[in-house]
Amino acid sequence: MPTKKIIIANLKMNLSLSQTASLARKFKNKFTAFNKGEVVICPATLALCRMAEILKGSRLKLGAQNVFWEENGPYTGETSVSSLAEIGCQYVILGHSERRMHLLENYEMIHKKVAAVVKSEKLTPIVCLGENWKERKTDRRDFVLVEQLWQALSGIDIFGDQQIIIAYEPIWAIGTGTAIKPDEAEYAHKIIKLALNDMFGMQVVSKNFRIIYGGSINPKNVKGFTDLENMDGLLVGGASLKAEEFYKVVKEITK
Ligand code: PGA
Repeated sequence: MPTKKIIIANLKMNLSLSQTASLARKFKNKFTAFNKGEVVICPATLALCRMAEILKGSRLKLGAQNVFWEENGPYTGETSVSSLAEIGCQYVILGHSERRMHLLENYEMIHKKVAAVVKSEKLTPIVCLGENWKERKTDRRDFVLVEQLWQALSGIDIFGDQQIIIAYEPIWAIGTGTAIKPDEAEYAHKIIKLALNDMFGMQVVSKNFRIIYGGSINPKNVKGFTDLENMDGLLVGGASLKAEEFYKVVKEITK
């Protein structure tokens, strides 16, 4: 498994095109001398090309927030894996809870997307999963996590060095300003790892998988997440909209 932590900025649909370009320039300046971790920026689809141009020559990598499972054809409004790869994308977020909720992405759709991305060997999928408040309150978190993993990944063959990132994002912590307790994240990551070991075997899991946390991470609370055993990085929403804040998060987690 790569030992460097990975920190992924999910800009969602928060910024206009010009605001995204301006943020990209700020990121590029801030991160010029940075070489400790792997940093990925995921802007809205329409901003990807512009972002790719701006980030050229930097260590910052580009990711998309969604992709379609077919390579081409009559799929109005969709984007293919190849076209993302063509503009320099290396990562893609899949199955984010906001898409599950607002776009009604279901298990089958997410599975098809993960399968298409893995098969293409062109992008690294960032597969999001996590329980909602009710599931947590009724002690169903572990079951929900394992179920979501199985639904997304069962039957998928992993070849060579193909990387897969699992982002544990408790839905009830996203965008609230309050992250979960680090030891709860560590526990959930352990459950995820055990389930992955069951599905793919320990060797594949340690070589091909990383498990990261997402949900209201900011420069203040990130400290608690730095030394966790099963924490390979972070998925950051709100705090990635300001270059300074995001930089602080990245610096802290990669210390
Ligand atoms: P947040 O978003 O950091 O604003 O909670 C994280 C995410 O949804 O990926």
